[in-house]
Amino acid sequence: MTAEPVVGTETTTKTRYDADTLAALTADATAIMERYPDPRSGLLPMLHLVQSVDGYVSRDGILFCAEMLGITAAEVSAVATFYTQYKRHPNGTYTVGVCTNTLCAVMGGDAIFDELSDHLAVGHDETTPDGAITLERVECNAACDYAPVVMVNWEFFDNQTPETATALADKLILGEDVVPTRGAASVCSFKQMSRILAGFPDGRADEGAGAGEPTLAGLKIARERGWTAPDAAGPRVDPAGTEPVGKPGSSAERKPATPSDTTVGKDKKPGEDAK
Ligand code: FES
Repeated sequence: MTAEPVVGTETTTKTRYDADTLAALTADATAIMERYPDPRSGLLPMLHLVQSVDGYVSRDGILFCAEMLGITAAEVSAVATFYTQYKRHPNGTYTVGVCTNTLCAVMGGDAIFDELSDHLAVGHDETTPDGAITLERVECNAACDYAPVVMVNWEFFDNQTPETATALADKLILGEDVVPTRGAASVCSFKQMSRILAGFPDGRADEGAGAGEPTLAGLKIARERGWTAPDAAGPRVDPAGTEPVGKPGSSAERKPATPSDTTVGKDKKPGEDAK
């Protein structure tokens, strides 16, 4: 762990990790750097590594990354401040992220965020005084079929309401177990999650179901009806260059079937389709 310097006394450019912490960090950072042809490509996972130790990207963490990669602290800071996943102040044990992207927002995400914000008395990117929860608005988590979605340390809690989300937050504050809707059977801490994101798996990646019923609904219908995706290379034509050929069912390749298929853009007056 690190001790933050007293404001105004930051005269050293060296990290202040104790020897054991520094040795462990150095071993892990070396393993990260060895994954890449250019070691500095490992900066992103190294920042997660720092967060797994300090709970955020600390001053010492920035200096450590800079020393390991032979770049300046300013260069490390520039990256750490660009991505919202890197925290520049101590994060809570749990990041509770409410998706307020378009679909989740209209399905109730905005209401969930407002309720949680009132309930916890914190705003976006603020942490409860007990250090349990950092509340965030987050962007789409590719779980729109379960909107509105709340993430706890990136585990899914689907189809939430203001009531279920506040009950979830209360459990986290009390230290009670919570069970994600999909994926892993439990939620780890922010520091543990950060270590996974640094590329040190906890062996639980395949726990639980990944894609649920709503996600697979379209695939099920397509298989029932024999639909397949268009050829990635685009519509193919016969050697004469006139007749489209390919898999049946592809809208890009089907033959004209209705009058409007053949009259689009030809001999049509504005607004004719609206009649
Ligand atoms: S908009 Fe919320 S998961 Fe996509």
